[in-house]
Amino acid sequence: MLIHKDFNLQDHHSFGVSVKSEYFSSVGSLEELQRALQYASDKRTPVYVIGEGSNVLFTKDFPGLIIKVAFTGVEIDQSSGVVRVAAGENWHSLVTTCMNSGLHGLENLALIPGSVGAAPVQNIGAYGVELASFVKNVRGLDISSGEPFVLNASDCRFGYRDSIFKKPEGANLLVSEVTLQLQEDWLPDLSYSLLDKEFCETPVETPQELFSIVCRIRRRKLPDPKIIGNAGSFFKNPFVSASSLERLKVRHQDIVWFDTDNEDIKKISAAWLLEKLGWKGRKHGGAEVSSVHALVLINAADASGKELSVLAQHMVTSVLEEFGIVLEPEVSIL
Ligand code: EPU
Repeated sequence: MLIHKDFNLQDHHSFGVSVKSEYFSSVGSLEELQRALQYASDKRTPVYVIGEGSNVLFTKDFPGLIIKVAFTGVEIDQSSGVVRVAAGENWHSLVTTCMNSGLHGLENLALIPGSVGAAPVQNIGAYGVELASFVKNVRGLDISSGEPFVLNASDCRFGYRDSIFKKPEGANLLVSEVTLQLQEDWLPDLSYSLLDKEFCETPVETPQELFSIVCRIRRRKLPDPKIIGNAGSFFKNPFVSASSLERLKVRHQDIVWFDTDNEDIKKISAAWLLEKLGWKGRKHGGAEVSSVHALVLINAADASGKELSVLAQHMVTSVLEEFGIVLEPEVSIL
């Protein structure tokens, strides 16, 4: 295991901004992880853990050790549908492997950037489906005590882009492995309206077709982080009360919103709010709002992390002023 000093993180996070960490280590096993943690403890330096860095914005150099979790391995038990995956595996490759092995459920989550270890932290979701529905348990290490942990799905306290791993009590829990329960029977979730529109053109009869449609929509609507730096949706869709939504509808009949499990709470499309305010294509230095999707900030021309965060802050302010709604970032800003 190598500890690099004064390390440029540009190739290790999807915004691709040029920032450095004081130390960097890519760890391939629990033993290497423990050695890296010991190094940080000896140096009394802070630690931040990344997978593929697809949900983080570095606004300045990191004064500590960045640990990249690079554990690999996928174990599929075909008869039970149980899949154990190491945290450093790529999420989209896992979706493809499971589908090709005849285990289903993950097709709607195709092409989400990032690693398997980051998936439960964010409770990744797309096109009507969230990871939470498939999690059997999550294993890892409490990096403050060095103790291993195993949490079942309810212990993970999954919510919309949320989990125990994002709360103070879970902040020290590093995910090393995720176990999923998938199905041989294909029970597709086709509830998301955008999918509906695509089905009018291509009726979906197989998991492979659903997978291809999801990939097609994502390629059309979201810039590929390998080509243009971005972290997908920068903000979460905000929740408002049903009565606030009714008031908003008086002035904005075309507002886009979604029902939630609670009939008094509605989810508003943050992309709609931002597009309405003319944010698509607007720039701040090298940072830009995607002209295809208003919720996506891109590193258009050698942006600094600061430029991206200032642009994001201007967006938050304008939504608050015009709609009285607070947008919260989905991306971790460091
Ligand atoms: N819309 C606009 N302007 C835009 C884009 C979208 O008005 O520029 C409106 C359209 O009416 C569209 C609706 O917003 O139909 C919803 O757009 P989209 O389907 O792209 O979904 P989203 O709510 O913006 C969420 C997730 C995405 C996920 C999609 C599909 C969040 C924060 N984002 O976006 O996840 O792919 O739904 O399920 O919940 C991510 O988390 O990084 C991410 C990309």
